Amino acid sequence: MSASAEMPYFIKPSVNLKQEEKKEAYENAALEIKAVLDGETDPILKMVTINCILKTKLPYYYWVGFYLVRDGKLSVGPYQGTLGCLHIEFGTGVCGRAAAEGKTQLVADVHVLAQGKDHIACDPNSSSEIVVPVFDKNKDLIAVFDVDSTLINSFDEVDQQYLETILAEQFEV
Ligand code: SME
Repeated sequence: MSASAEMPYFIKPSVNLKQEEKKEAYENAALEIKAVLDGETDPILKMVTINCILKTKLPYYYWVGFYLVRDGKLSVGPYQGTLGCLHIEFGTGVCGRAAAEGKTQLVADVHVLAQGKDHIACDPNSSSEIVVPVFDKNKDLIAVFDVDSTLINSFDEVDQQYLETILAEQFEV
């Protein structure tokens, strides 16, 4: 089952930011994440907090969350947004590709991808996305971090750079 095109009352469509606004929002979010998670060791608490702070500060974040590596596939973990798919195979969709390659995926327009193979449409409102692999201190993949926007072209190298840094600081320790 996947979400319908109608947005629930508590979810808003995305608003893109200018480059300078985006950098400032990430700087603020990174500082808040560091402060709130100072001394925290529980990875689930970290994921919940990262989702909340980033979604609050970045208005183009429509769906944000983690898919966890479980029994050789990805299973949905902490997220904020409309109903997410429960399980994703390595190599399938954008999340599965990020997991299989261990590399960040930037997709300007998910609608041009082969649906069901290169992209999994959990919610038809998603139009662009970034997926960042999450590693532990042994450099083992523990999750992927997925952000979707209702607009095309919301994510770029600025998102990639900040997210890779934030996730490494929290999970590769
Ligand atoms: N976008 C993902 C599926 C997960 S949802 O967007 C929550 C993908 O194609 O990997």
